[in-house]
Amino acid sequence: MATTEAQVRSIPGLRLDSLNHFSLPVTNLDAAELFYTEVLGGQFIRRDGSDLWVRWGPVDVRLNRQKYGEPTIAQAHPHHAFTTGGSIVHQWQDHFASWSIPSVIVCRQHDRRPTMKGGDPCAVEVYFLDPDGNPLELDARDCPFSERVIWAPYDHFDVLYNGHHWWAEYKNRFKPHAL
Ligand SMILES: [Fe+2]
Repeated sequence: MATTEAQVRSIPGLRLDSLNHFSLPVTNLDAAELFYTEVLGGQFIRRDGSDLWVRWGPVDVRLNRQKYGEPTIAQAHPHHAFTTGGSIVHQWQDHFASWSIPSVIVCRQHDRRPTMKGGDPCAVEVYFLDPDGNPLELDARDCPFSERVIWAPYDHFDVLYNGHHWWAEYKNRFKPHAL
């Protein structure tokens, strides 16, 4: 809201209402549909040529088929983040593990590190990759601190997996959504 008001003040008559969508490059739309709808629980909107549209809340993600995903291991940006509840962060990690998707739960509140105890609420980021290596994140507050939470910086290689092997292992779970 503050951003919109600022834009109205600086450009009279013009405003941006919300973020509409962002796009991510993928190599296999079927694998992307399985990952983004079944693993991440997005709402299937449509398949349209080389595009797959999936929705969470007011923002759509457009998965576009092209030759390469984003570079990931050598660089952490750009990446895209979803908001989730801190109380279910560990469940998300278990869920990812059940799909053979490695993830890390990272805390950056180093000022609290000396006194942080198990169960203390902390702000965390969960990092993981889609099958094309696009870096994704879950952002959560009030996650109970545990031995699973690691302190930033984290090793990007810990979230690496082979998306082609992943698709080979899980493609039997793929059922195309009705168009
Ligand atoms: Fe981020």
